[in-house]
Amino acid sequence: MAVNPFAPGRTIDPELFAGRREEIERFRTFLKSTMEGNPMHLAILGERGIGKSSLLRKWETMARAERCITVRLDLDPSVDSIDSLLYHILRGIKREGALHSRLFSLSRKVRDFFDEYEVTIGVLGSSLQVGRKALSPSLEARDEFRGIWDGIHPSIPAVVIMMDEAEHLEKIEGSLQFLRNLFSRLAEEGCGYMLILSGKLALFKQIKRIHSPLARFFNPITLRELTGEERIEAIEKPLSYSSFTMTGEVKELIADVSEGHPYIIQLFGYYLCENAVDRRIDRDVYWACFPVILDRLASQLFDDLYSSASPKEREVLHAIAESRARVVSVGEVARSLGKRSREITYLFNRLCEKDCLKRHGRGRYSLFHGLFREYIRRKAH
Ligand SMILES: Nc1ncnc2c1ncn2[C@@H]1O[C@H](COP(=O)(O)OP(=O)(O)OP(=O)(O)O)[C@@H](O)[C@H]1O
Ligand SMILES: [Mg+2]
Repeated sequence: MAVNPFAPGRTIDPELFAGRREEIERFRTFLKSTMEGNPMHLAILGERGIGKSSLLRKWETMARAERCITVRLDLDPSVDSIDSLLYHILRGIKREGALHSRLFSLSRKVRDFFDEYEVTIGVLGSSLQVGRKALSPSLEARDEFRGIWDGIHPSIPAVVIMMDEAEHLEKIEGSLQFLRNLFSRLAEEGCGYMLILSGKLALFKQIKRIHSPLARFFNPITLRELTGEERIEAIEKPLSYSSFTMTGEVKELIADVSEGHPYIIQLFGYYLCENAVDRRIDRDVYWACFPVILDRLASQLFDDLYSSASPKEREVLHAIAESRARVVSVGEVARSLGKRSREITYLFNRLCEKDCLKRHGRGRYSLFHGLFREYIRRKAH
């Protein structure tokens, strides 16, 4: 049986990665700067399934190719304090450093350093416990990171620390400021740490405020849908690693209907390959599969989004889905619901935070995707 080259829901393999040239260049420049002693940091912001984790994975391979130690952490609610955050980072550096120093046959000094380096909350000391002065964890942590840098430099040109699902940091009070202070001071002391955060757009309010000190430090990048060419690349690259063929017409249909949402492209590719006739995908296969693919999208994405909305928020979703224009103003929706704008504005904000709506400039919104609009239209409320 031919292997299906599409993998909806999994981060894309770096060799199948499509588009995002600007983001890749940006990372290359920042990494170079970090390796030259001037650390730069980044934050990736974007809605669900837009490709944040895949971009991190791509950057990770680039950093590793430059012989940098790269730690990619997935944050979750169990990381609930600055102490546990530091613990995860330091443990990650230890794990990656040990692997890395063997992989690149680095000097005995670096290998010994990682063999001996131990991190436990206990070792980092009672100073990391809650209840002590806020300043002390940062001093302790600075010594710790400095110690690591002294142990591995110059064999290792930089340490890249990536934190995915970083919206969890918003629940750890002061953690973003803490990271900023810690890594600013480390940079002043000549330590080559690069910090990268990635998380859901709406939840990352503090970084989103452009010109805020945090935004200046983290240099946020907002990921958008893939462009026309990038969509075709996202379809053709996986196909080129397989024995499936697809007509140009079908590629265009997917590029169009997906609106460049990478997860939706993967889902179409996956189910079309599953249902290909003699490994060939043409318009007949496409249209025969279309209803099944919509069902899958509903159960894997849309049901979840819809059920996250409260009854009042659902009224707004239906009103937007029923309006003739894709992009509507709060005022228009308010009128169609017989309400005042100020009574319902907060519902729009919440729906954006839940990834159901997209904001297009002040007071104008659309559903997050055209297929989500079809889904809502078909749903009775
Ligand atoms: N540049 C890309 N080229 C091709 N496919 C991609 C690209 N980026 C993402 N994808 C595909 O899109 C889907 C979503 O990607 P990913 O998991 O990286 O998104 P995410 O923004 O991290 O999502 P979440 O918000 O759920 O964490 C995956 O199936 C992945 O294979
Ligand atoms: Mg992700």
